[in-house]
Amino acid sequence: MASASPIIGFDEFAAYLNKIFKITLSDIKILIREFHTEMQKGLTGYESSLKMIPSYVDRPNGKEKGQYIALDLGGTNFRVLSVELDGRGNASVTAVSKFAIDIADMQGTAEQLFGFIANCIHQFIEENQLDKRIQYDLAFTFSFPVDQTNIAAGKLLVWTKGFTAKGVEGEDVIVLLNEALKKKDIHCIRVAALANDTVGTLVARSYKDPSCDLGVILGTGTNACYPEKLVNIQKWRGLDPKGHMIINMEWGNFNKLRLTNYDKDLDLASPNTGAQFLEKMVSGMYLGEITRLVVQDMIHRGLIFLGSKCTAFEKKGSLLTENMSLVAEDNSANLGEVEFFLKSKGITNITAHDKNILKHVCDLVSTRAAKISGGSIAAVLSWMDPELKNKHTVGIDGSLFEKYPGFARKIKATCKDVFGENALNIEIVHAKDGSGKGAAIIAAVAAQSEK
Ligand code: BGC
Repeated sequence: MASASPIIGFDEFAAYLNKIFKITLSDIKILIREFHTEMQKGLTGYESSLKMIPSYVDRPNGKEKGQYIALDLGGTNFRVLSVELDGRGNASVTAVSKFAIDIADMQGTAEQLFGFIANCIHQFIEENQLDKRIQYDLAFTFSFPVDQTNIAAGKLLVWTKGFTAKGVEGEDVIVLLNEALKKKDIHCIRVAALANDTVGTLVARSYKDPSCDLGVILGTGTNACYPEKLVNIQKWRGLDPKGHMIINMEWGNFNKLRLTNYDKDLDLASPNTGAQFLEKMVSGMYLGEITRLVVQDMIHRGLIFLGSKCTAFEKKGSLLTENMSLVAEDNSANLGEVEFFLKSKGITNITAHDKNILKHVCDLVSTRAAKISGGSIAAVLSWMDPELKNKHTVGIDGSLFEKYPGFARKIKATCKDVFGENALNIEIVHAKDGSGKGAAIIAAVAAQSEK
């Protein structure tokens, strides 16, 4: 429970909340400096909260061609896709199946999770009547921190986003996938590439737009990747000194941010305490929970719902980021959505004051998240191009970016605050479905280089 500071009245408490959630331009400038220090350490191979993981892939040239199967694991759903690359910069999804992942599979064992994946692939093959005499190249988007050792191999470093399946951390996920495919008698699939979702997003966007040099996910979790000069990756010196390699930053683990007591409580109650601090302040899996902790604190202090000791928000997970989106969307004078949401929680005697407070808390929590996201984007762009002289397209995917009202606008405003007029060189685009398509392109790059 967030420790109760000696604040009693509503006005003082509101001022306190405004203060602890506020992110100023000077905070953003500090964030950028700290990001650069951590990036440098991560690239050199020193201990850093930014893992800066080489992906073994550079941006594509747009000529990659063929049909590929892609798997996308990383959030609440698992997807199997068939992707067609036309060799002229167009990637289209020709078939897709989406499967909800059971908590039992997420938090059970490696056999269960990879068995589930193999079952989904089997179903996809049957439903789409794939010709089993052909060998299909498959790309696996596995959106967790993986220490990659080549384009189709890598060990899971640590689980994030509520996954805890035993027997996967420290193991090569491609070996686990191949074992599961074999067990299920699936022989028409060759696993050709392993990719993080950020890398897929960047690759998919840069397939048709060479100015794209930053891929970002703002969804259940958050992370980013960018192409780094090989000479700067001191921990991994490649053969071609002029070349580039995409670096999966794992920025969700950045740990130089000022935490509120609510953030600390959330962290303590999470399965990965002490890790992923930026992710826990920014991404869709956690924003609802931070808001819940604030509301619950206000209930305990008697500052909301007419001082009633209601228990509607006692339970972890009883307020979701989707609920916040609804609340944020509602601009009507009577705040109908907020009323509807509170009623669904069994709260009846709702005042205009309550509705406004809830809306305000959602705004504080989500604005902080958007500003940290914008600051982190500015940090990577200024690392690549300190004066921001060149054009940069930032491809972003994820439900938070796509659906949370005002989130994208606040990211852009933060970049404008940092770079002034030069921010005109930044184009922020929604790179929808990037991770699946991008993985297919990576598989094509891998197949080409094998030839
Ligand atoms: C993972 C990243 C991933 C991000 C977005 C984080 O929890 O560590 O690898 O890219 O979520 O899905």
